[in-house]
Amino acid sequence: MKKKVLAVLLAASMVAALVGCGSAAAPAPAPAPAAEEPAAAPADDAAPAEEVAEEAPAEDAGGLIKVGFAQVGHESDWRTASTKSCQDVFSEANGYDLSFVDCDNDEAAQKEAVRSFIEQGVDYIIIDPIIATGWDTVLTECEDAGIPVIVIDRTIDDSDKYVSWVGSDFLTEGKAAAEWLKAYAAAQGISEINALIIQGTIGSSAQIGRTDGFQEVADREGWTVLDKQTGDFTEAGGQEVMESFCKSYAGKFNVVVCENDNEAFGAMTAMDNAGVTYGPGNDVILISYDACTAGLKDVQAGKITADFECNPLAAPTVEGVIQTLQSGGTPEREILVPDNWYALADQIVPFAVDGKDMSMIEVTDAVIEAQY
Ligand code: AHR
Repeated sequence: MKKKVLAVLLAASMVAALVGCGSAAAPAPAPAPAAEEPAAAPADDAAPAEEVAEEAPAEDAGGLIKVGFAQVGHESDWRTASTKSCQDVFSEANGYDLSFVDCDNDEAAQKEAVRSFIEQGVDYIIIDPIIATGWDTVLTECEDAGIPVIVIDRTIDDSDKYVSWVGSDFLTEGKAAAEWLKAYAAAQGISEINALIIQGTIGSSAQIGRTDGFQEVADREGWTVLDKQTGDFTEAGGQEVMESFCKSYAGKFNVVVCENDNEAFGAMTAMDNAGVTYGPGNDVILISYDACTAGLKDVQAGKITADFECNPLAAPTVEGVIQTLQSGGTPEREILVPDNWYALADQIVPFAVDGKDMSMIEVTDAVIEAQY
């Protein structure tokens, strides 16, 4: 019965989307929801009109495209920017009715959020997966309900039941950080690397890519990675891990890699408290990822030595995917969001990743002003 109601809901949402075409604010015509629709219920089995009216939220949306977004949480500056970007893009003024769920880094809550979107009969589901695995069952449920799923930012690695993924290349970020370190250390006459890594949320593709990319170069170059522990992409986590590292590896490390800026903020507090100096010309080369505004300010202040961007402003590209689907087209399966690498002028050195020359951007007031 539920499936039949959902079939009616989807039909209702198609009608609602078509009705919305006349409005100036409404997006492009909506010939059909893009993914496979569930088989239409036989007429005599269909829910009575009153029941549909009660249970069909798509009709209540007044012709808006209903989008559910299961966001990771609110752990970082990056995440705040990502959420704002999605809320700005999927606004009523732009023709959308957005159901937003902050999953607070809880994998089970994120699956439940997706299921609640199915229950609501949304037209599209956007997922930023907290971790990369464990998705096939719930994505099958989305498929059975005929709701296209778009993955944003982090990847899903154990299911292909989504239309598109839009995000950054985390493996390249990790390799870029390490290749830059190799070139910078050579320029500084530093012959030995003893690194500590504060990882992101274990099992997230952002953590896996950055850790693996850095480690691949470390192995090739014979560097010592003294330890790796997760700070869960938070400032508090970064501080806690760094406090423990400062005790366990006092005087033994000359590189700290934080897998996002918020962890770096916490790590700096811990190093300040332990009397460890960091940044260009000091005890420790501090590498970070994200390059949020506050991170770049710390580069400018000579605290973070180099910062490797992960661009959080992917929502406009996701909207492009939805509009392609709305007009009956087939969006690209994978869409990369370009990232930049940042340092002060004296720390910019030539390097390559997988044979491709990389360029870095010098951090200036104007660059910081333009950043997210
Ligand atoms: O998935 C992107 C990562 O998640 C960002 O690097 C980090 O800040 C966020 O928490």
